[in-house]
Amino acid sequence: MANTTKHKTIWFCNACGAESPKWMGRCPACGEWNSMVEETVVTGKKTSISNILNSQNHKPTPLSSVDTQAEQRISLGNGELDRLLGGGLVEGSLVLIGGEPGIGKSTLSLQIPLHCPDIRTLYVSGEESVRQVKLRAKRLGGNEDNCFIYSETQMENILQQAREVAPQLMIVDSVQTMYSQALESAAGSVSQIKESAAMLLRFAKESGIPVILIGHITKEGSIAGPKILEHIVDVVFQFEGENKGSYRLLRSIKNRFGSTNELAVFEMTGSGLREVSNPSEMLIPMHEEGMSGVAVSVTMDGTRAFLIETQALVSSAAYGTPQRSATGFDGKRLNMLLAVLEKKAGFRLGAKDVFINMAGGLRVNEPACDLAVVCAVLSSNFDFSIPADTCFAGEVGLSGEIRPVYQVDRRITEAARLGFKRIYVSSFSAISENHKGIKVVKIKDIPALCRDLFAQQD
Ligand code: TYD
Ligand code: MG
Repeated sequence: MANTTKHKTIWFCNACGAESPKWMGRCPACGEWNSMVEETVVTGKKTSISNILNSQNHKPTPLSSVDTQAEQRISLGNGELDRLLGGGLVEGSLVLIGGEPGIGKSTLSLQIPLHCPDIRTLYVSGEESVRQVKLRAKRLGGNEDNCFIYSETQMENILQQAREVAPQLMIVDSVQTMYSQALESAAGSVSQIKESAAMLLRFAKESGIPVILIGHITKEGSIAGPKILEHIVDVVFQFEGENKGSYRLLRSIKNRFGSTNELAVFEMTGSGLREVSNPSEMLIPMHEEGMSGVAVSVTMDGTRAFLIETQALVSSAAYGTPQRSATGFDGKRLNMLLAVLEKKAGFRLGAKDVFINMAGGLRVNEPACDLAVVCAVLSSNFDFSIPADTCFAGEVGLSGEIRPVYQVDRRITEAARLGFKRIYVSSFSAISENHKGIKVVKIKDIPALCRDLFAQQD
């Protein structure tokens, strides 16, 4: 035989997919500890991809003659998802939706064909039987025409069926269950995950059929998955949210055809995921007048402004070392803000426990929330309440100055629209619009902020 195959053991990093001929305690590529797993690969044999997909004779093309008119976007019948994609799904793109088990990936992906019966869809499930998918579809409601269900895990079969069905959209749930005959390792191993994704990518690019791929991530990141695929696929969305809570946030991490850092909000209901097109109204739960430790922040995610409630609890430390805990906010940043408060305004918070929580299970990583965090901490520490019609948008600098935030006009407009009467921003903000119905309070630094807040209490 001309093909001499040889079995070889290779070590793969679970976190980034790097290869190594021997085991290492720490991955040299990404620096992760204890992430190397052993896998047997076959060398000397032609990989399946070229056998299965008769790749066309590609030649380099002059850039000027490439036609972009043909770029078609397919609407998925879901406003939030379309917006996140940058106006719909691009033909021939490979979209990865990652998230922890049970967060709603299968639900969302099955809702797509049910909500757009005009699109001929092939839904491949490697986790559930056809019957199980049908039961779920019944629960979700919608139009079942034009949706083909296929329960299969072998990539070669899937691609063959995909060519026969000729769908306009293919959904594969999940990449961890898929395997290619060409490799000997088990489904879910790093090499199988990479190979399956590469096969789907080739399929999408050659046929022009967009593919939505589902991938699991575990909290510990112990199962190889979406992380190692991020550079292969065109778009990466990640589900976030408390499993117990009903809100689910879909964040765009990578998008070759649109902007990243966009966020879509969904609510898990008895009949699937419901779009929450105005997150402000959902993220501020009944904010009662007179509660201390609560401040509302105006934050931006991508192009959209929304309001989020920041809660703080400051209490005397029961044990020696005070605790600092932040849910939905960067713990290091919280420490920095407390240090600024201590140094610039003389508040002795060093011996206090400080807890911060962003309502609704949202994670913010925007410095514009600093001001609301500082105000919530002060409000809890001195037990005074911030009026419910007041909100904040400003970054706090190391010397206690309040720094301006981007898109300040948009934030003020959103706050005014939701009935807020007062917004605190940096005195260095460049406000170009004349905002009606809301008082814009410009604050220079932390001492000025404290004077203003405490003056209102008298
Ligand atoms: P699922 O989509 O199966 O999660 P994943 O594919 O990410 O593992 O959804 C899991 C949870 O959602 C499950 O605990 C049940 C719940 N759920 C609802 O609350 N309402 C529904 O209509 C459906 C289909 C699921
Ligand atoms: Mg699932």
